[in-house]
Amino acid sequence: MDSWLKYILDYLLEERGFDFSGYNPSMVERRIAQRLTAIGCKDFSDYLLYVKENSDEIDNILDVLTINVSRFFRNTLTFELLAERILPTIIMEKLERNDKSIRVWSAGCAMGEEPYSVAIVLDDLLCREELTMDLHIFATDIDSKSLDGAVKALYPISSIENIKYRLLRKYFTQTQSGQSFQVVPEIREKVLFSFYDMLDKKHKVPPESIFGNFDLVFCRNLLIYFNTEYQETIFERLHQSLNQNGYLILGSAEAPTIKYQRHFKKVFDFSTIYKKR
Ligand SMILES: C[S@@+](CC[C@H](N)C(=O)[O-])C[C@H]1O[C@@H](n2cnc3c(N)ncnc32)[C@H](O)[C@@H]1O
Repeated sequence: MDSWLKYILDYLLEERGFDFSGYNPSMVERRIAQRLTAIGCKDFSDYLLYVKENSDEIDNILDVLTINVSRFFRNTLTFELLAERILPTIIMEKLERNDKSIRVWSAGCAMGEEPYSVAIVLDDLLCREELTMDLHIFATDIDSKSLDGAVKALYPISSIENIKYRLLRKYFTQTQSGQSFQVVPEIREKVLFSFYDMLDKKHKVPPESIFGNFDLVFCRNLLIYFNTEYQETIFERLHQSLNQNGYLILGSAEAPTIKYQRHFKKVFDFSTIYKKR
């Protein structure tokens, strides 16, 4: 790794406690280079000087490193399988045990599109079956700006393109300008957003969730940025955070590392939904 890059990553760790050393170095370099160009620095040593003299620049680096693109019902098939197969199974097993709570974690939740999507699917399913259960949906990220946006729950048209019209009408209100949609309060209040670094050394699960024990964990489009060592740290905590019959949902380009393949069993060979072993 180039020394200027190492310096910036060390600086991020010292100043803010973020460890980006396990992120793909070419991705990190490419994204920091965007900042260099935006500021108009000559080269990386010029940029280093700028960072040392302008501590606010750290926020801009964090912004470019945390890629927070998401949308509602990303990977439509995953959400169809959840609605038709996985969630009905979880609900049936719970009711048999007289357990009326469902615990979900969206790890790397960006602006909340993913946890709100699962809250919508669950609410719709429970309404249809005329069932009442307590939904505890925890959603975490290291990008504070995204978390602020998630709480406001206001989205452009591009975020809602995968939503069925029936669900859009039931769970969103359109703003006066017609250009944005807001999630209804009944769904917003089901999701608890908090800051949590997936590499946090102190807490193996978000402290707000107290003990983990999740029925369903989403960790999608986050692992792709990490090297194998860091992915394994994350798979270990994902495994521990799930209850005995829990499900893990990964992004479409993600899979457990070789070491963790025996910890998770693929539920359908055409999707990235896994069951804890
Ligand atoms: C591409 S988004 C994925 C959003 C959503 N899960 C999806 O699949 O649509 C990746 C998210 O992971 C977050 N992230 C990156 N590194 C993280 C870390 N170490 N701990 C927690 N979140 C992280 C980013 O801030 C970003 O919001």
